Amino acid sequence: MTRVFSGIQPTGNVHLGNVLGALVPWTEDQHRADSLFCVVDLHALTRPQDPDELRATTLRLTQILLAVGLDPEVCTLFVQSHVPQHAELAWLMECTAAYGELSRMTQFKDKSGKGGFVSAGLFTYPALMASDILLYDTDLVPVGDDQRQHVELTRDLAERFNSRYGPTFTVPQATFPKAGARIMDLQDPTAKMSKSEDQAPGTILLLDEPKSIEKKIKRAVTDTESEVRFDVAAKPGVSNLLSILGAATGRTPEEAAAGYEQYGPLKADTAAAVVERLAPIQARYAELAADPGETTRLLAVGAAKATELAAATVTRAKANIGLLPR
Ligand code: TYM
Repeated sequence: MTRVFSGIQPTGNVHLGNVLGALVPWTEDQHRADSLFCVVDLHALTRPQDPDELRATTLRLTQILLAVGLDPEVCTLFVQSHVPQHAELAWLMECTAAYGELSRMTQFKDKSGKGGFVSAGLFTYPALMASDILLYDTDLVPVGDDQRQHVELTRDLAERFNSRYGPTFTVPQATFPKAGARIMDLQDPTAKMSKSEDQAPGTILLLDEPKSIEKKIKRAVTDTESEVRFDVAAKPGVSNLLSILGAATGRTPEEAAAGYEQYGPLKADTAAAVVERLAPIQARYAELAADPGETTRLLAVGAAKATELAAATVTRAKANIGLLPR
């Protein structure tokens, strides 16, 4: 059976880009494949974290994943640091990756270019991500467009390791949703929507109230024309609304454009579709948040399942690279 793996960082607030670009596709993948989904708390450490906040965000994010529809009876849901093999294989990946190729990662260039403390972990981050994926003999990695380069690197590292030390890893492939792979900021539709402050007018958060969602979409930047068509280069704002409407209603952006002649109705329908898509998730999240003990129990089950698979891969990789067995 096809194996699927993906992950999300417990930092900031889950936003509409995460939901439409990754989480909703995951809920569909879990029924088509043998899937593992991971809250990647070690990745969050690449930037300094408040310990209490990190613990709370990790638990909250798990509850959000359950609320979106991941079913722990169907998929394996766990926290990265609960499975020590992630950090262990990451070292082998760091020694397989070249300094030059890690330097070329656009996400590293963006994040390190913003100033402040740049950890060594921020630089080696993609090696940890490769470890996450390769530990589980993953075939498919459902992600948003911004993770494309990291999955490409993972493929290169798997192929390099296999050719140096013999067949060890499955070479994975990234998959992207037909709409929603790149949800942009509503105020700056040339920048991707990202985790940010609570009040950012260009970001819709999963837990935003309907009124706030309506207001943000109503004020979304469009352009001075009035034609509704999907054309990312010429009409980034309108195209973003069409991507959101398409992803929220299970259509491509081009299909979503049919029938609109003005921006007003497009915005109203997009807001209504987003509110309708998020409302049941918000309601389920409120129930789950009231019972953290149950979430902790589910995570322990997930970690046990993941560890079994991960341990076998690490044993194989260590043997193939020439580490003396204990
Ligand atoms: P993260 O936590 O930034 O984002 C989680 C998922 O959400 C997608 N995403 C978006 N999709 C569409 N539009 C957007 N504006 C948008 N913003 C975020 C991301 O592409 C991602 O799929 N490095 C990863 C986490 C990770 C991982 C992995 C993913 C660690 N190990 C192994 C896959 C496999 C990250 O920081 O995602």
